[in-house]
Amino acid sequence: HKVIFSGIQPTGIPHLGNYFGALANWVKLQRNAAPEDELLFSVVGWHALTLPQDPKALQQARMDMMALLLAVGIDPKRSIVFHQDHIQNHTELAWILSCITPTGKLRRMTTWKTRLAVSRNANDESEVDDSLLNTGLFTYPVLQAADILAYKATHVPVGDDQQQHLELTRDIAEGFNRAYKTPSRLFPLPEYMTTPSKRILSLKDPSAKMSKSAVDPNSRIVLTDTPAQIKSKIRGATTDSIQGITYDPVARPGTSNLLSILAACTDDDVLEVAKRYHNRNHGDLKADVTEVVEETFRKPRAEFERLRGETEYLTQIAEEGAAKARSRSDATLREVRHRVGLA
Ligand code: TYM
Repeated sequence: HKVIFSGIQPTGIPHLGNYFGALANWVKLQRNAAPEDELLFSVVGWHALTLPQDPKALQQARMDMMALLLAVGIDPKRSIVFHQDHIQNHTELAWILSCITPTGKLRRMTTWKTRLAVSRNANDESEVDDSLLNTGLFTYPVLQAADILAYKATHVPVGDDQQQHLELTRDIAEGFNRAYKTPSRLFPLPEYMTTPSKRILSLKDPSAKMSKSAVDPNSRIVLTDTPAQIKSKIRGATTDSIQGITYDPVARPGTSNLLSILAACTDDDVLEVAKRYHNRNHGDLKADVTEVVEETFRKPRAEFERLRGETEYLTQIAEEGAAKARSRSDATLREVRHRVGLA
């Protein structure tokens, strides 16, 4: 049977990329899972601490993310939904795994390299402002590996940007299995599960992915945007001046991104969608994308607004999820402690 695990950071309202790259896919997996499959979805508060957070805002964002997961259709009766930071097993396992993870592997992580690059003095490469280069940011992928391995997950549905972290997780699992091999391999090697919309691009700069941290809020559409905001953001999306519509992610990334979003919203094949727009123009395409995005977000947005105020209910769901996650990860940690000689 499958054990499906994924996580999302409680840093702001999810955008279209999070939605199609992760959340909507989780709901699909939940719907199609075999009865014996297990699904776990976690709000990863510890990962959020790698960047400066306002404590009050973080507290609210954690609650909001729980409400959002339920609002998009994660069913707490079927899937285990929980806050990562409620389960100490993750940090204990992260420590143990960090002791078998060479620092060179972490130095090669794209996220780390990007942070390092922006912290370098543009005029003097040897000068690094390390005020944002905390140790947590460096070891973040090990904590992510611990999230996954604490449940012996077999499948991890994530967007494109997390693939490298998943490869590292497999390396770490293999390293552990090799170092502590008796009586048998402890961890399954988790598989990367992707979706057709694994990489939704920024509406303003289609050479970059859509991201929560981009400065321009018009570069992303978030789940709580009003129809008027959705309309104006899509109207302002960067495309190109080529006549007609074709799907060509290399030469026409902005136009292709709109086609991908349309295809994701209508659950169609992007090439089929592109065919339908062949003789039409960007105005037509943008009008239709606006309509389907509005339609896609309407129900989750309303459901989120409703659930958001139900703090008692959200707390109860989080506690129930934590109890289940704890008992499952306790079993793994008992084995891990025993293997390494800390039973
Ligand atoms: P996070 O919170 O940045 O993103 C959550 C999910 O959204 C996907 N995603 C995208 N997909 C398509 N297009 C985009 N533009 C886009 N932007 C984000 C991400 O790939 C991700 O699936 N490190 C993780 C959280 C995490 C985790 C885990 C995930 C912690 N532990 C264990 C899986 C398993 C992160 O920061 O995701």
